Amino acid sequence: MTSQPIQPVRALLRPIRIGALDAPNRVLMAPLTRCRAPNHVPTPLMAEYYAQRASAGLIIAEATMAMAEGSAFNNEPGIHTVEQIAGWRVVTDRVHAAGGRIFLQLWHGGRTCHPLLNSGRQPIAPSAIAITSNPFRGPDGPVPHALPRAVEDSEIPGIVAGFATATRHARDAGFDGVELHGANGYLIDQFTRDGSNHRTGPYGGPASHRIRFACEIVEAACAAWEPGRVGLRISPLGSGNSMSDSDPVGTYTLLAQAVSRIGIAYLHVLRADFMGVQKADVLTPLRKAFRGTLVSNMGYTTDDAEQAIESGAVDAVAFGRAFLANPDLPERIRLGAEWNAPNDKTFYGGGAEGLTDYPFLTKAQREAALQGVQ
Ligand SMILES: Cc1cc2nc3c(=O)[nH]c(=O)nc-3n(C[C@H](O)[C@H](O)[C@H](O)COP(=O)(O)O)c2cc1C
Repeated sequence: MTSQPIQPVRALLRPIRIGALDAPNRVLMAPLTRCRAPNHVPTPLMAEYYAQRASAGLIIAEATMAMAEGSAFNNEPGIHTVEQIAGWRVVTDRVHAAGGRIFLQLWHGGRTCHPLLNSGRQPIAPSAIAITSNPFRGPDGPVPHALPRAVEDSEIPGIVAGFATATRHARDAGFDGVELHGANGYLIDQFTRDGSNHRTGPYGGPASHRIRFACEIVEAACAAWEPGRVGLRISPLGSGNSMSDSDPVGTYTLLAQAVSRIGIAYLHVLRADFMGVQKADVLTPLRKAFRGTLVSNMGYTTDDAEQAIESGAVDAVAFGRAFLANPDLPERIRLGAEWNAPNDKTFYGGGAEGLTDYPFLTKAQREAALQGVQ
């Protein structure tokens, strides 16, 4: 992975206020599930990994189980036990000591959860529709997804309260804020889109009803902490996990307007479909609909990101795989240095390999890059 930046890079390295947070640059680290938290407890190795990336304007730590019932990966972290909060405290202390800022992404997997990882329990979803587009990544290899049961309206306040509790736990663990995971086909997204939500009643039917679940969770998180400490991630076009919507722009414009009124710190938009199936310009309408900081993600190069910020289309850009493989990404962007290539074989699970062993620029590389800039 290489980059040919516009020289000199200006926009990405400009400071920005994101809600209650002052960030020194606009190069954010996108949330990346790494499945290295045995029994859902964050480890010192994870602290090392995040501390290495403290030069990000903001780190958004990986999808983390807001409540016990929501495991959809092997060894993804949680934040619903005392032990997990203590594990995260080590992470946030290390990141802060290294001069960084870190939010925690909170999620519930909904129908992406599997009985194999949840003591045999059937997953919940807005409707009893199973994922068929891709298999479940089981402990012993791929297996079909389970058929979820449609959650009762009466159960929803308990889920919303679970997100509020997780938000308080994130604050107790020393995070600077939380990002609610409303993207990529997990529970919040399942409620929002009509491909997965066939309900009637207060949480189903028209988009104004389907966004209610997301809005209640956003409001609960804001009440548990404060709006300036809360972000929301969305993927209007994402088609993985059997996701679709008959009107992505309309649905997400409505949601963006609603969370704009609540006053959250930022809206984090996956600008494209990771699978490349569904296509539309979602950033332009979302920019109009949302007054806070607009963060965009998905396949950005330095040039792309510079252009997006300079033109005013977005305020900041999150980098996923590039940050995974380049602990010093902002410096590489500043110098126009080469980027390490990510190794997808070590994305999920394992130990230090592929987590903390991606190299920083050496002194010689830095000097060579500096000469290129001059
Ligand atoms: C290994 C891996 C893990 C990911 N985990 C998460 C996650 O926990 N939460 C999330 O919202 N997106 C997750 N994503 C999606 C990324 O945040 C990002 O949207 C995607 O990689 C595209 O951005 P990029 O082109 O900058 O990598 C993950 C992607 C990868 C490759």
